[in-house]
Amino acid sequence: MPDIDEIKEASQYNAQIAQKTEGFFLKGSNSLEWGMKDRLARIFSPVSGRTVMLAFDHGYIMGPTSGLERMDLTILPLIEYADCIMCTRGALRTLVPPTAGKPVSLRYSAGSTVLTELNDECVMDIEEAVRLNASLLAVMVAVGGKFEAVTIRNLTRAVDMGTRYGIPTLGVTAVGKDMARDARYLSMASRVCAENGAHVVKTYFCENFEQVASTCPVPIVLAGGKKLPELDALTMAYQAIDQGASGVDMGRNIFQAGDPIAMIQAVRAVVHDREKPEKAYELYNTLKNEK
Ligand code: 5RP
Repeated sequence: MPDIDEIKEASQYNAQIAQKTEGFFLKGSNSLEWGMKDRLARIFSPVSGRTVMLAFDHGYIMGPTSGLERMDLTILPLIEYADCIMCTRGALRTLVPPTAGKPVSLRYSAGSTVLTELNDECVMDIEEAVRLNASLLAVMVAVGGKFEAVTIRNLTRAVDMGTRYGIPTLGVTAVGKDMARDARYLSMASRVCAENGAHVVKTYFCENFEQVASTCPVPIVLAGGKKLPELDALTMAYQAIDQGASGVDMGRNIFQAGDPIAMIQAVRAVVHDREKPEKAYELYNTLKNEK
């Protein structure tokens, strides 16, 4: 109980100074609740407005894919360079030290693997996400696919549940073998995610990417996709940011790179410092050759 004797009289009202009402730095996020904004501000740098998310959730559909055979050896050394990690609850509990101090984009939908049909998924309990202190719920959304309705319902469920606890949702646009990766399709898929409540959208790069970014009312993070030569991956990241992306959520182009630690630093240079791809590639080679 505070000492209530001799309470100092309040006098510093500063009535002539108007209280600032600041807007929130992320696109489309100003009306969100405090907890959501706090989580988003841990993922996206309030200084650059962008993020480098490290994705290593591939095992949930692919098993031990190249670069992820021993995540303790390949992924843990990368975590310090990421603004946010995207992974499954299994990877989080078994490998990631809770002292890592990074916000988690938790793989929140699951249900099938590459051996059957992808995207026939459900979402997990919200209490599990709360227990794991998730900062983002990552849900696959297969617009135009066989499981379109299932995945959109998963997204809306995640948004409803996450909203109860102040946890934002990431809509991950799925691309199947039979789905076009063009601006028309990706802008529709991204918009469907946002209109159904996703607070952030993860999608792929394509020609006329600015059409995808400008018609999506929430921040877009770029999915890396299949492994490219390092300079090409840096160029793709640069162009995506240039055309309106708010960062990257990259997996294979980082952990399958010739030197993953050098690559994630080069990606950071592109995303946060707006370094040109050639300069970032120089940095990649310098860091690589230092070893
Ligand atoms: C699928 C996913 C992933 O499993 C993963 O995050 C993809 O990362 P990348 O394509 O950069 O390897 O989100 O869409």
